[in-house]
Amino acid sequence: MNNVEHFSESISFVETPKLIARLMVNLISSKIIMKREALILDSGCGKGVFLEELLQASYKNVEGIEIDSSLYETCKTKFREFKIHNKDYLDWNYDKKFDIIIGNPPYSHYNSLPFNIREKVFTLSKSRESDIYYAFIIKSINLLKEDGELIYIVPYSFFYNTFAKYVREKIITNGYFELVIDLDEVRLFEGENPETIIFRFRKSKLKPSDNTLYLQLKGKKASISQIFSQVRLALKKQESNEIFHYHKKKMFSSADDVWTTHPVIRIPKSKPLHDLAFVGVGLVSGYEKAFQIKEEEIKYLNFNEKSIIKSFVKAKHCKGYWTEGETKYFIIDDKITEESEVEDSFPYFYDKIEIFKENMKKRYLPKNKSWFHWQALRNIKKHDLYSEKPKIFVPTLDRSLTNRFSLTYDRVYPSGDVLTIVPNVNPFFLLGYLNSDFFRKYFLSYGARRGHRMAFTQRVMSNIKIPIFEKEVITRIANIAKEIYIKKNLKHKDELNILINRVLD
Ligand SMILES: C[S@@+](CC[C@H](N)C(=O)[O-])C[C@H]1O[C@@H](n2cnc3c(N)ncnc32)[C@H](O)[C@@H]1O
Repeated sequence: MNNVEHFSESISFVETPKLIARLMVNLISSKIIMKREALILDSGCGKGVFLEELLQASYKNVEGIEIDSSLYETCKTKFREFKIHNKDYLDWNYDKKFDIIIGNPPYSHYNSLPFNIREKVFTLSKSRESDIYYAFIIKSINLLKEDGELIYIVPYSFFYNTFAKYVREKIITNGYFELVIDLDEVRLFEGENPETIIFRFRKSKLKPSDNTLYLQLKGKKASISQIFSQVRLALKKQESNEIFHYHKKKMFSSADDVWTTHPVIRIPKSKPLHDLAFVGVGLVSGYEKAFQIKEEEIKYLNFNEKSIIKSFVKAKHCKGYWTEGETKYFIIDDKITEESEVEDSFPYFYDKIEIFKENMKKRYLPKNKSWFHWQALRNIKKHDLYSEKPKIFVPTLDRSLTNRFSLTYDRVYPSGDVLTIVPNVNPFFLLGYLNSDFFRKYFLSYGARRGHRMAFTQRVMSNIKIPIFEKEVITRIANIAKEIYIKKNLKHKDELNILINRVLD
């Protein structure tokens, strides 16, 4: 069997809109355009959208590679002047290197790939949690000439995903981004909605002589023709416009850090949040429905049972500034190790969880725990210690357009989907500052974006810098936040934003 028959399956074929392909062909730098004989590759050429644009732009020395036989046939017939290969790009042995590699590679998580492809993805990307597009980036960097350019449209996730560390390393050790266009959530592809970026990477042993240029979509929405015209306009005029922010910053220098397209915001005098508050993750049961208790069940409980019920704040209770409602769960102490003791002391609970026993056993549980225990009672001693104190909760992953730091004075635990902040300074000051637009922008500059959401992780939040304000400003922030909290009325938010922006700008 030859390669052509072997690779009859298309992997993640999704067609790039014509104008996006045209825009990307336009991004080929003048440096390369001058070289008439420049060798160009479209990796994963599909039906040839990029090949068509390259043809229209009069490039002569163009090749394409496509794993799928029928797509390959389409391109081969349509672009007789170009050399098209029906091969798997990931283990393609080619004797030439390219000035430009351009395209829209396939996006698909390792687990969704055919077995023979998985191994090749692993070989290139060093992780079984990779997406195939990581492997395409790495392979392309290998196949570029020194000073060559990789122009790709890909999901944004390799900027922050832990498992994309090797791709980030490959990028920073082999060159740098000259341009990154952040298209945020704009829906570009039929049936797919990843957050995408377009980048131009230059392979170079030299340090970048310039900063990376970023074009960052201002809103969440833009039409493809707006993207096409406004990217070109921003690049020509070298300034922001109605659709894009135009800014420059230094190329990333570490693969360990989360990367972001947001401008760097500096705060001259600050303290890390962990100096002003305890920041902790919440408790994880690993089997919500078994441990949850409804209000109407309480009348059936004995004294022992009532004593192990705890109230929790979950992400859904965080309204921003204040919390609303709580959810009750019971927690069987890790010191209780015998099932018979659970049955005797907590008969109602035992009946409730017993039906889930087999599934509960399948949860990941540390060695010293039994099936009737919670998976992780993270920081429980600290939470007990702080039970009487005011606490600010925030959902660890949040889609809302404004921050939802929410204060409560109730005796509640944080559930696994929220982070808790227990201030040892004025809680209203922190509440107001953390909910401000300034803080949101600042937090984004630290790489808080995950897919379509903001991630408030313990690591980042603990170390985040809180500005040192004058006493009088702290009091004013605290007073406004208190007013919002007590009246449950957000109308003073603007006042707070204006104040903080004025002081920090
Ligand atoms: C997202 S589509 C893009 C197609 C085309 N470039 C476009 O922009 O319209 C990715 C393409 O890569 C091809 N592909 C997937 N895995 C491949 C591999 N390992 N080697 C070569 N091509 C591959 C798919 O068959 C598909 O046509």
